Amino acid sequence: PAERPLQGMKVLISAGPTREPLDPVRYLTNRSSGKMGYALAEAARDMGASVILVSGPTQLPPPAQVDLVRVETAAEMYEAVIARAEASDIYIGAAAVADYTPAETQSEKIKKRGDTATLVLRKTRDILAEVAALEKRPFTVGFAAETVDLEAYALDKLARKNLDMIAANWVGQAEGGFDSDRNALEVFWKGGREALAMTGKKRLADRLTALIAERLQAGVVV
Ligand code: C5P
Repeated sequence: PAERPLQGMKVLISAGPTREPLDPVRYLTNRSSGKMGYALAEAARDMGASVILVSGPTQLPPPAQVDLVRVETAAEMYEAVIARAEASDIYIGAAAVADYTPAETQSEKIKKRGDTATLVLRKTRDILAEVAALEKRPFTVGFAAETVDLEAYALDKLARKNLDMIAANWVGQAEGGFDSDRNALEVFWKGGREALAMTGKKRLADRLTALIAERLQAGVVV
């Protein structure tokens, strides 16, 4: 049925920022609100899917009839997603995962000393790329938030991370992106692209989810 194109499907979505602890009272994070990922969870639910939402810390109410798994760090998000990915039909990586985490978390509060201080950071695992590399992989959708060269970076990520689809958006513009209620997306897949115009994140999530369902159907040989 046209209005429930994800009926019977299992959709796994990651959303929000991660929080990387430096010591018991401090952490590194980013401006992600989680709104896009939560809106995607509601859109997939409304299209008939059973939805698991793995979420970093957000201020958002838990979506009804969605299985919410709360995590804090990139490492916790990795474990939560990888454990559920092979059982999923679709994975949408909408979280703003920290690219680097403190090499060490101090067990006591770091003391103030000299005029400058240096943090040593270690790269986190790329959850999206690892999901796409699984033997039994779901239809894998990534996000790319860029301030320059949107199309080039998006196409590079699509190929390099072996994704089925990538949704790219400008960040740091007057409208749209991380903290905003509105957004616009340039969506790319192998052999196609579609621009989804600036609108509210719920409406945009409906359009992106419909596009995912359409591409998934197109890839299924009956
Ligand atoms: O390479 P970049 O971080 O810009 O790619 C963004 C995409 O990769 C997003 O979908 C994001 O959720 C995902 N990602 C991830 N794990 C990381 C870093 C990014 O899943 N450690």
